[in-house]
Amino acid sequence: MLELQKVSLEIQGDKGFEILKNINLKFYEKKIYVVTGPNGGGKSSLAKIIMGVYNPTSGQILLDEQDITSMSITERARMGIGYAFQSPPRFKGIKVRELLKMAASHNPEKVNICDLLYDVGLCAQDYLNRDVDASLSGGEMKRIEIATVLARNLKIAVFDEPEAGIDLWSFQKLAETFRNIHMKYDTTIILISHQERIMELADEIIIMSSGMVSAQSERDIILAGIMNNDSCACSTKCVKGVGQSAECVG
Ligand SMILES: Nc1ncnc2c1ncn2[C@@H]1O[C@H](COP(=O)(O)OP(=O)(O)OP(=O)(O)O)[C@@H](O)[C@H]1O
Ligand SMILES: [Mg+2]
Repeated sequence: MLELQKVSLEIQGDKGFEILKNINLKFYEKKIYVVTGPNGGGKSSLAKIIMGVYNPTSGQILLDEQDITSMSITERARMGIGYAFQSPPRFKGIKVRELLKMAASHNPEKVNICDLLYDVGLCAQDYLNRDVDASLSGGEMKRIEIATVLARNLKIAVFDEPEAGIDLWSFQKLAETFRNIHMKYDTTIILISHQERIMELADEIIIMSSGMVSAQSERDIILAGIMNNDSCACSTKCVKGVGQSAECVG
């Protein structure tokens, strides 16, 4: 189980501000969680704090009761936490085949990298020898990154907007793939998404807004709330012409 206890994250700048505020969450084995909510609500920051890209200003992160708060990204990756970024990084000079083999080398089970590409809707013969560089389209890159996470048989797999840039035809296949890993492994899957079809995969849905968990419940309860527009995402602080910086006035 992954547990976040009173986790806050403040970004230091001219004016430090809290991106995550007192987050308390438990993610159990073999469950699918969907984190959703308005743009800027803190979803990617939550993913980054789980992966160790950001370190919390206060609070603890526990994996199977072990405190991993001060562990690096590499240590967390070794412990079985994986993260597919909202905008995947590209690696010049590496072929898709090498990237997938590297990812699969951490999996005790034998993984067929062609099957992995198929699972994300890409044809192995067209992609294995491609470079993982800017020549790949956004959607292709996104799918290859998802395949690297699927290769690893993880304890915790976090996918940040896996649907972004993926065409409608492949979207269904991707949803099926998430369902399959869920059946096959004990992986806890955390999907950050704005898509109803992804939300339908969830055991539980978490809504994040203004850096806080504004709602968390079983899928159907939250979906019904969203349909009734219960969870307003508007910021009441920002009113046109009021309390804005000097540049905005006049
Ligand atoms: N390194 C940073 N420096 C300054 N501000 C940051 C940093 N990282 C995140 N933020 C701010 O924190 C807030 C939360 O960002 P985050 O990326 O977590 O939102 P999100 O919920 O993933 O949004 P989206 O749905 O658009 O992907 C935003 O206001 C963002 O501008
Ligand atoms: Mg985001």
